[in-house]
Amino acid sequence: MRALLIGDVVGTPGMRALLEALPGLRRDHDPDVVVVNAENAASGAGTSAKQARELLAAGVDVLTGGNHTFRQADLYPVLEQEPRVLRPANLSDRAPGRGTVVVDVRGGWRVAVVNLIGSVFLDAAHSPFAVVDDLVDRARRETPFVLVDLHAEATSEKVAMGWHLDGRVTALVGTHTHVQTADARVLPGGTAYITDLGMTGPHESVIGVRREIAVKRFLTGLPGRFEPASRDVRVQGVVVEAGPDGRAVSIAAFDLGAPR
Ligand code: FE2
Repeated sequence: MRALLIGDVVGTPGMRALLEALPGLRRDHDPDVVVVNAENAASGAGTSAKQARELLAAGVDVLTGGNHTFRQADLYPVLEQEPRVLRPANLSDRAPGRGTVVVDVRGGWRVAVVNLIGSVFLDAAHSPFAVVDDLVDRARRETPFVLVDLHAEATSEKVAMGWHLDGRVTALVGTHTHVQTADARVLPGGTAYITDLGMTGPHESVIGVRREIAVKRFLTGLPGRFEPASRDVRVQGVVVEAGPDGRAVSIAAFDLGAPR
């Protein structure tokens, strides 16, 4: 089973780049399932209902979310009605949507996707460590292929979750920092791991925001309206390959459009 996991899509430039890159990614990597973190697709703040529909129509199997998912109110009915559009499971139970799904994908595989948010520097309703065992146990009753997106700020929280889940999930990937890390590896128990998938969006920026606006805010401390950048747009993520027992055999990061 081959899974393509794509890092945070930022703004219209990120959406456009991803939709353009998907056919080539499919040709090159032949994935059975495609998972995309889209929580910054709407100008950096959430995912609009239209964008969610566009991504699913383009063949993305599951969308994951994060701290900005609830910023676009028109996504709420989508979160309630479309099981393949997730928000972190450990946000409030009273908020719309859910954080796990099991999908039947190409090749006859069943794949579970679990979306969590970190509790270090982010507002989680419950620690991801408090809920993850139950979610993974339930997913493993359905399928050996379990992909977890932990949307988190702190490297330590993601690394710790990787070790905690090693041998029980096919992949634990981090999202949210928008900077792809160079630590993709298969842990000894067979879990593919990377601290951050990176960003599908404009890299001549400060994690997606126009760099002069972000720099000015750091220099002056004054509030400013963040606007998405537009240059050096890249598509970043990983390809994970797993055996029939759900254990990963490889993980490889990609950075499409990077200057050479
Ligand atoms: Fe985020």
